[in-house]
Amino acid sequence: MAGSRAGAMPVLGLIALIWVQGSSTVEVGHMLLQSEMVQTRNPTGEFMFEFDKDEIFYVDLEKKQTVWRLPQFAEFTSFEAAAALGNLAVDKFNLGIWIERSKNTSAIPVPPEVSVFSRYPVELGEPNVLICFMNKFFPPSINVTWYKNKMPVVEGVQETDFYPREDGSFRKFHYLTFIPNEEDIYTCSVDHWGLEQTMNKKWDAEVASQPSETSETLVCALGLAFGIIGMIVGTILTIKGMRRNGEQRR
Ligand SMILES: *[C@@H]1O[C@H](CO)[C@@H](O)[C@H](O)[C@H]1NC(C)=O
Ligand SMILES: *[C@@H]1O[C@H](CO)[C@@H](O)[C@H](O)[C@H]1NC(C)=O
Repeated sequence: MAGSRAGAMPVLGLIALIWVQGSSTVEVGHMLLQSEMVQTRNPTGEFMFEFDKDEIFYVDLEKKQTVWRLPQFAEFTSFEAAAALGNLAVDKFNLGIWIERSKNTSAIPVPPEVSVFSRYPVELGEPNVLICFMNKFFPPSINVTWYKNKMPVVEGVQETDFYPREDGSFRKFHYLTFIPNEEDIYTCSVDHWGLEQTMNKKWDAEVASQPSETSETLVCALGLAFGIIGMIVGTILTIKGMRRNGEQRR
């Protein structure tokens, strides 16, 4: 009897751990966000819709057309680019009033936090995508250049719009398709009004092979699980030992 109980309890400990981790992704409803921005810097405006923090579409202000980032939405809805242009014209008028009222006071720039990482786990020789992530900056005006071994790269490069953050700052992604090898060093070079000098974030295959935060978390969770199992097994053995002592005393 005691033997089967000892077998069941460590399993319970593991289930509790997994359940605690799963409970952090509680469903809290959905959010549709319309974001429009005008400024005196480049780009002078932006109009886009997000669903649960994923961009659905933006309006190309030069071509005056809606560009779908999640094309499945375009199958059951549409958006007139002219409506966005009308809104931005009003925003621009209002911006003029605010500039006057503030007596041309410039906003204080906040520099970006920049990180570079690969989209997929790195395997030498396997095509991959480098992501340069710029976060928490203001105003939404930034110049980004990819370098491969100090040479600027223009092919295989993509970028997103400026995504609004809840605190009024912005985030943005730049992408570079590449094939990792041991020699090449890539740099995401970022210019922003909030930075004293150009920020250069380097990436090479060696950087990628260092333990990431997720694998550290996994090691930590495994350690915790074994710790809990150890405690439970220890307790059971202690109880068994005490019982055995009691039996001997009887
Ligand atoms: C604000 O700037 C505009 C154009 O740059 C200028 O015409 C205007 O006189 C300035 N206003 C003040 C209050 O400095
Ligand atoms: C970005 O580049 C443009 C064109 O060269 C320049 O006018 C602008 O000042 C640059 N912006 C920043 C934030 O460095």
